[in-house]
Order: sequence, then structure tokens, then C-alpha cells
Amino acid sequence: MPYYVTTPIYYVNAEPHLGHAYTTIAADVLARHMRQRGEDVFFLTGTDEHGEPVTLAAEREGLTPREIGDRYAPRFRELAERVNATNDFFIRTSDEQHVKAVQEVLQRVHDAGHVYLGRYEGWYCPRCADFKTESEIVDGNHCPIHKIELTRESEENYFFRLSSFQEPLERLYAERPDWILPGSRFNEARSFIEQGLQDVSLTRTSLNWGVPVPWDRGHVFYVWFDALLNYYTALTYARDGEDLSARFWPASVHVMAKDILKFHAVYWPALLMAADLEVPQREFVHGYLLMDEHKMSKSLGNVVDPGKVIDLYGSDALRFWLFREVVFGSDGSISPAGFENRYTTELANEYGNLAARTLAMIARYRDGVVPEAEPDQSVAADFDRLAETVRERLDAVDVSGALDEIWQRVRCLNRFVTSEEPWKLAKDEANSERLDSVLYSLAEGLRVVALLLQAYMPESAERLLAALGVDDRALDAAVFGTVGGGARIGELDQLFPKVEAEAA
Ligand code: MSP
Repeated sequence: MPYYVTTPIYYVNAEPHLGHAYTTIAADVLARHMRQRGEDVFFLTGTDEHGEPVTLAAEREGLTPREIGDRYAPRFRELAERVNATNDFFIRTSDEQHVKAVQEVLQRVHDAGHVYLGRYEGWYCPRCADFKTESEIVDGNHCPIHKIELTRESEENYFFRLSSFQEPLERLYAERPDWILPGSRFNEARSFIEQGLQDVSLTRTSLNWGVPVPWDRGHVFYVWFDALLNYYTALTYARDGEDLSARFWPASVHVMAKDILKFHAVYWPALLMAADLEVPQREFVHGYLLMDEHKMSKSLGNVVDPGKVIDLYGSDALRFWLFREVVFGSDGSISPAGFENRYTTELANEYGNLAARTLAMIARYRDGVVPEAEPDQSVAADFDRLAETVRERLDAVDVSGALDEIWQRVRCLNRFVTSEEPWKLAKDEANSERLDSVLYSLAEGLRVVALLLQAYMPESAERLLAALGVDDRALDAAVFGTVGGGARIGELDQLFPKVEAEAA
């Protein structure tokens, strides 16, 4: 089954921060895991370059919207590389092919009778590029997300007949109770729909930075419709001369935070139905990374630069920490102290030291060759069904849950070393068989753990697998006891060395 995973496309209105890295890494974990399962994978990320959020930022910086896009889009592309994301394409909505494809799809939606000309009047947040209903606004006329004053907008717009999708959307929610995860977000979206849908603006005239409306050149498409369509348009031109949409559409999973739930859970499926395209199989909505209890965001200024963490500790540590520290799907606070703590206790001690000790003992007691031996039964029992469980968790986009399953096994191996004390066994030749079994079980446990950690921490997992002399990197091989002894181990520098940290 082809597997198509996406991140939101990020606004090019400022430098990327850890919040953006978070979603991109989560999607990358899924993409890597699915490739390891042998699936046909396509992973998309990119930038959202039109509309008010970008136009306003450009004005502030004295640039044109195109210039600000050209300044920040490469920064987002670099961020994806720095966090080790294996995206198959990076879309920019300023791409000519995207613009053309958006026009084609929305012309079709227009021609099918889902669009009419009307006048809009209401409260608008330029940062969200979203019209707010009376029930959403706070403190009189402020945006609930950005806390800025909303503007009263009134203009002639083409409208998308969202209201006519009330029933089809209700049916979608009734038939596919897990199409949006976690369940709390599904309920939130469903109750939004049940309150009754109103038609929404499809075009703007007060702005000219956007995709021109083909049937009325005085209008550009409202940025959200242009942006949502990226998930589909990218497939039509990501590979020269090839249209990947037949292979990868509908998307397997769109990953995003809860700030953009309404667009993805209500507008997007309705638009797809109007365009006669299939609705994505799943959307996963994660929570916010918080700093001092506020959503990390450029406008609040409470951002962490992922580049700095990577410079000091490497991208694996960053990738790991995010999903250990905050349960994927919930909000969670992060801090430099929390990072350092997890780096030291879990990565350096529990994982790095376990690997180093195991290799050192095999070198010392068995001349650097993993002994052929019976696996320890208690370790085998602890590892039973591990790979299946990890698969099931990641099928449900439970990125933290799968990692926790793996980490429990790292801890089980540590307890095993402590209770078996192989250095004591090594003192008496009579214990030789037991020592073989202990060392084999440690090496085998580490092999399985490293294979499963590949999606999360590809660099360190690769180093460990190479040092263990492991050939097969497929997920199918991640079953304890299926590879015998005999591998010659190699050198391994500290997986997570101590860092003289000024600040993470
Ligand atoms: N351009 C729109 C998305 C269009 S998708 C068709 C947009 N861009 S954004 O730059 O504001 O990015 C929002 C997304 O960035 C969130 O949905 C989330 O994926 C990520 N995050 C930004 N800040 C974050 C946190 N503080 N915490 C978690 N995710 C964060 O909205």
C-alpha cells in the first residue's frame, strides 16, 4: 500500500522555529518507519507563500511578498535537512505548477456549481488569515490565538458553498470515527460541523498576492484554499513528466497542530468532495509545544532555535527529546533543563552506556564476536511482539507511544545487565555458557532496539547497527532471537557524549 504523509506548509513570514521542526520530525518518523516496512512512501513538506500573513510580514520587513518568500523558504528547506527529514519533495505555493493546478481544481469546483458571488462582512484575523465567528472571538474583538485586534472586513467575494456539504461531512464523521485522531479533535471538529456550516469566502479582492481566480481576474483565491490544495498539487509535478496522484492520492495522513484543525477537518474534506477527489485517509492533530505555558510562536517571541540544539547535541537528540518530553497529541511544556536531563539520563546513560558496555564486554570476554547461544528467556519474553506493537502504535500515529514501547526495552536490557553482572560471570569458566547467553541476549536486544529506533534517531541507530555487525535493516528483522551469534563487532564512539552545555 502506498503511504503518503504530509506536514502543514509553513508561512514564510519569519524564521522557522522548534514548533515547525516538531511536526516535520513527526512526519519523518512515520515516513522512515513505513519505508523500513517496505512501503512505497511519499513524504511532503514545504512553504505557504501567499495571503495576508506573508504580505503583512513582507511590509514590515520592507520586502515584496515574493522576496520574503525567497528569503525564508530556503530556511525552512534547510530546517528539514538539519533535522534529517527525508521529504521526497519540498513544495512552495509560489511554484508556477502549483498555481496552475490550483486554478484547474478550483475552476472545476466553480463549474460544478459550488461557487457564487456575494458580499462578506465579518471579523478577520490577518495572522490566521481567518474570519472569526462571534463565538470564537475574545475580549470584544480579539483573536483567540494571536490576541491581536481583529479587523472588520467587508468585501465582494466568491463564496464556496460549504453549507451544502453539511450532510456529506456528517456522513464522513459518522462512517469514519478515526479519520481524525486523537478522538478529542475528532469530536471538536464534528461538533463544529453539527453547529451548522456557513458558506465561506473563496476569494479576496483587497489583496493581490495570491493565485489569480481564472474566471475573474480581479480576485485571488483566499490563501487557505490555495494552501490546502498543496497536498494534492505537489503530486502532479513533484517528479518531472510524472503524475504521482494516481499512486499516492488520497493521502494516508496529514499531520498538523490543533491551530489549523478547522481548515483541515471541515473545509478541506468539503473542498475535495466538491472537486470530486477522495478525502484523506487520516489526519493527526498534535498539541502545542509550550514555553512558560504559552504556545511557542514567533509572534510571542518565546521560540527555541532547533539549529542551536542540533549544533550542540545533534539532530537525533532533538528528535528523541521532542517525543519523550511531550506526548504526541497533547500540549506540553519544554525547557532547556528538561532537555539536558533527558539527554543525560536516557540517551547518554540508558542507551549510550548500555551500547558501550555491551560492545566492550563482547570485545573483552569473547574476542569481539557475538557468541552463539540460547537467548535468555526473560529478555525474550520482554521483547515478545515488540515490533508488532510499534507498528500498531505508528499506524495510529502514536509517535510517543511507540517510542515508549522501545524505551521500555532499553530499560529492560539495563536491568538485565545489572541483575546478571556479566563481569562476575566472566570470572569463572563454569559460567561460560551463561555468559554467552547474557552477551548474546544483550547484543540481540540492542539489535532489535536499534532497528526500531532507526525511524526516530537514524544517525545513532545506524552507528550502533554497524558496530553490532548487523546487515539487515528491515523492520521485519526486528524480532528478538531471529539472528544468531557470530557477528564481529566494530568500534563505536560514544553515541551521546557528554556535552559542555552553556544552554540548550
Ligand atoms: N500555512 C499554514 C498551514 C497551511 S497547511 C495547508 C500555517 N502555517 S504556520 O507556519 O503557522 O504553521 C503552523 C503549524 O506549525 C502548526 O500546525 C504545527 O504543525 C506547527 N507549529 C507551529 N508552532 C508550534 C508549536 N508551538 N507547537 C506545535 N506545533 C507548532 O498555519
